Order: sequence, then structure tokens, then C-alpha cells
Amino acid sequence: MEQVHVEVPARGASYEIKVGSGLLDQAGSEVRAALGGKTQRVALITNKRVFDLFGAPVVRSLRRSGFEVCKWLMKEGERHKSIRSLEQALNFFNQVGLERNDVVIALGGGVVGDLAGFAAATYLRGIDFVQLPTTLLAQIDSSVGGKTGVNLAGGKNLVGSFHQPRLVLIDVDTLRTLPRRELTAGWCEAVKQGAVGDRKLFEETVRLLGSIDLSLWNGSVDFGLRKNRVTTRKGAQTEVYATHLTAIIAAHCHFKASIVAGDERESIDRDDRRSRRILNFGHTTAHALESVTGYRRFRHGEAVGYGILVAGALSKNLGMLSSGELELLRDAVAACGPLPRANDIDISRLMRAMKSDKKSVAGQIKWVLLEKIGSARIVDGNQIEPLALRASLREVLRARK
Ligand SMILES: NC(=O)c1ccc[n+]([C@@H]2O[C@H](COP(=O)([O-])OP(=O)(O)OC[C@H]3O[C@@H](n4cnc5c(N)ncnc54)[C@H](O)[C@@H]3O)[C@@H](O)[C@H]2O)c1
Ligand SMILES: [Zn+2]
Repeated sequence: MEQVHVEVPARGASYEIKVGSGLLDQAGSEVRAALGGKTQRVALITNKRVFDLFGAPVVRSLRRSGFEVCKWLMKEGERHKSIRSLEQALNFFNQVGLERNDVVIALGGGVVGDLAGFAAATYLRGIDFVQLPTTLLAQIDSSVGGKTGVNLAGGKNLVGSFHQPRLVLIDVDTLRTLPRRELTAGWCEAVKQGAVGDRKLFEETVRLLGSIDLSLWNGSVDFGLRKNRVTTRKGAQTEVYATHLTAIIAAHCHFKASIVAGDERESIDRDDRRSRRILNFGHTTAHALESVTGYRRFRHGEAVGYGILVAGALSKNLGMLSSGELELLRDAVAACGPLPRANDIDISRLMRAMKSDKKSVAGQIKWVLLEKIGSARIVDGNQIEPLALRASLREVLRARK
């Protein structure tokens, strides 16, 4: 097991992220150790699919450690990360008589985590919250950093709060059942984190990606491993892979936690290379792609895959990034698996959608660009020629069939 300690200096708070194989079976003792003896009741929030896969061992383990467990299954999918689901969650807490000493546990992907975290942040003005993330994206990204919230009809994540978990417990075995596209989406976010943060993290991520072939993934329980020339025993190979996966996920959590520790609330006046804003690399294009396709074509991380290629191409076209570095970025995104097609998308429409991105400040987009792998630079949108942007979009979106 690997452990990452997270400090949130602005609140004088800290918590642990634990990563490893088989951790859901120990959920009870881990939550007990993090919260102490006073906590009696757990409100478990998950959805039916995830509960059917992992619910039984989690509930068993929590009960063994003396918790009284009540569960609420939210509907599946991004559109249920809504005010309506929030109200249902809060009413559920009220009906089961949840008290200040009790805890909300999120078991699932980012949708469950964001909603459950926001419900915990607001119920009785804030109660304890634990994350058990089960998608790759949630394990390396959304469960770390304390952002919680829901969507409005007019846009994603428009309502929310910062509410740090008391514990994040990451069981890498859950990824065995994850659909291929969800894995690809998570790996694209991982490539993003490596690219803006830390060359070593980028290289380690790419190395791990080299041992799997996501275009061949068929939903079986072997993580999409390529045939291994060294071990013939499947079990042994999976075990080795789980160890590597644990290390890489922990490294990503460590990186994200270090950024968040220095800039918990993503301050709008910071644009240095350790500001939380660098995590938005690829997201200007990604949000526009998601919006012009009505949030139906891309998983968010898949759109980020295109987005980081566009930001990379733009960095090169502006003379900031070398072709060799861009090539590394391209190879890394390609190794994440196939992306949905984007060669039919109208580029003018995409550019208009970018202008209304909610991350803009005083109408200006802040672009996160790259100087080299591991080193980001934040640039004001008004310093970027529309023609250079158009060329970069065309280069990336038209190149991929
Ligand atoms: N809070 C943050 O800092 C932050 C950061 C990034 C993204 N997010 C949010 O995260 C959300 C996306 O999260 P996501 O990509 O995890 O999507 P998701 O939560 O919708 O999960 C994807 C799908 O996988 C299923 N699933 C989950 N675990 C599984 C497993 N182990 N095996 C099989 N199926 C499984 C889910 O039921 C769902 O259908 C978005 O709402 C996004 O805004 C938040
Ligand atoms: Zn993202």
C-alpha cells in the first residue's frame, strides 16, 4: 500500500490518501482509524452499478468496525449530478437521522464523489466525508483537492464548495471492471497532469501505458494487459501490474495534492506554474468540444485528450514548444486508447464556445500552454492570435480520423 499525506494549510487540516490492492475490504478499519470512536453512522452514497460490484464487501467491512450503515443509490450519469439529486441526498440524510458526528461515504466515480461531497459540505453546515473512488479519473483527480459540487442546466459545476475529505481510500482492483472508454478518459487526465507538472510523472505514466493496449480492451478483468513475455502466468502478471498501478496513482495523487496545498481555491490572480490553474491544461478546448456536441459524444477525459493536443500544437505554433516535445505528448495521448471522432466539428463554432468558458476572468480565457513536458505557462487569451488558434485546432482535429 502507498500513502500520501495531504496538507491543506489554509484550513489547518490534513488527511491521508491510501492506495493499494484489496483496500475496500478494509474500509471499516480505515474509516474508524481516520475518524475515531465517536462516529456511529455511515451514509453511503453510490449508484446501482457500483453497489452491485463493490457494495457488499464495503458494507460488511464497515459493519465489522461497528458502523451502522444506511445507503442511498443515486441515478447513474453526469446529468444526475444535479440540484435535484442533491435535494434527494439531503432528504435521505434527514430521514435516517444523520448527526454532526456521522460521516458520508462516496463509493463511485467523480459524479458520485462530487455530489456526495457537496451534500456532506452543506448538511448541518458540514459533516465528515470519505471518498472511495472507483474510476481512474476519480482516483487520480476528482477525489483529491476538495472541490465538490453539482451542475446547473446552464453549465457544469456551477454550484459547489470546497470540502476536504477526512480520508481517500483507493482500491486499484476496482479498475478491473471499468469500461474501456472510462480508462482512456482517466489516462488522458493522467497524461495532462504529468505534462504540466513533472517530467518524471509524465514518463512513468507513459511507461505504464506501454504495458497495456486499450484499443484491445474488452471489459475482461485483466486491466487490458498486453501479453507478457516474461511471465506466462496471468495471475502473476496482474499482480505486478497492480503494484505498478498503485505506484502511479499514488504519484498522481501526490502531485495533485502538492498543487492544491499551495492554492486550494484556484485563486484568479495567480498565474504561476504552481497555481491550481495549470491543472486546466487542455480544458479550454475540452469544455468547448463537450459543449458543441451536447455533452453526448465525449467522456470528459476524452475531450481533454484532444484538448491537450490542441494546447500542445498551439504552444508549438507560438514558438514555445519544440516539435520533439509535442511528439512525446502525441504519443502519450495515442497510448491512452482511441478517442471518438472529431473531424466533423465546426472550428468556428468551437472557437465561439471557447469564449463563453466559465473559467474565463473578465471575459478573458487564460490558456495553459507548455514550454516543455513538465513545465507549463499561463498565457492571456488576448495574446493569442485567432489564426494561430484556428490552425492548431485544425491540425489536431482534422488529423485524427
Ligand atoms: N472534484 C473535482 O476536482 C473533479 C475533477 C475532475 C472531474 N470531476 C468530475 O468528475 C465527474 C466525472 O467522473 P468519472 O469520470 O469518474 O465519471 P462517472 O462518475 O460518471 O463514472 C463513469 C461510469 O463508470 C461507472 N463506474 C464507476 N466505477 C466503476 C467500476 N469500478 N467498474 C465499472 N463501472 C464503474 C459509473 O457508474 C459511470 O457509469 C464529472 O462530473 C466531473 O465534473 C471533478
Ligand atoms: Zn478534467
